[in-house]
Amino acid sequence: MQNLLNKVRIIGDPVLRRKSRPLVFPDDMPYIVSLVGTMEKTLEAAEGLGLAAPQVGESVRLFIAIPDYLDELNGHVVFINPEIHPYGDMEKREEGCLSVPGIYEMLSRSSRVNIKAADIRGNIFSLDVGGLAARLILHEVDHLDGILFVDKLSPIKRKLLKGRLRKLREGGRVY
Ligand code: NI
Repeated sequence: MQNLLNKVRIIGDPVLRRKSRPLVFPDDMPYIVSLVGTMEKTLEAAEGLGLAAPQVGESVRLFIAIPDYLDELNGHVVFINPEIHPYGDMEKREEGCLSVPGIYEMLSRSSRVNIKAADIRGNIFSLDVGGLAARLILHEVDHLDGILFVDKLSPIKRKLLKGRLRKLREGGRVY
């Protein structure tokens, strides 16, 4: 793939529903470098907080965060083949997703997460994270398993959003 800006895939695109494959070091390294370049440009243009590879059409286990989280994420912005252990109290926060534009809902998730992942060079690191950064990690790892945040809303909320989600899937605007 070229190191270009990609369009963010929107709900209804089958790539968002696939379980992504793990990346392999060192074989996948040139692909990873190119993919991360594309994703960073795409995330910046879309003004999101994080982006998972399936959102640019690549079914691989990689996500990135914006540099604003550098402190909380101990200098890491690229997470490859992440393994997570969510823990702590459940916490409600408003969530949104570039792949579900225009929809923001309160969602309950674990308040903390332990994450082990590889960086862009294949070095393994571990972090223990809370707050918004924990929320970002839990949201992005769901993308790698084909899960979108709206899947996790209560049946009542999902019912209320049904029409708007259908319009998104059909390619219409929701505003
Ligand atoms: Ni998302």
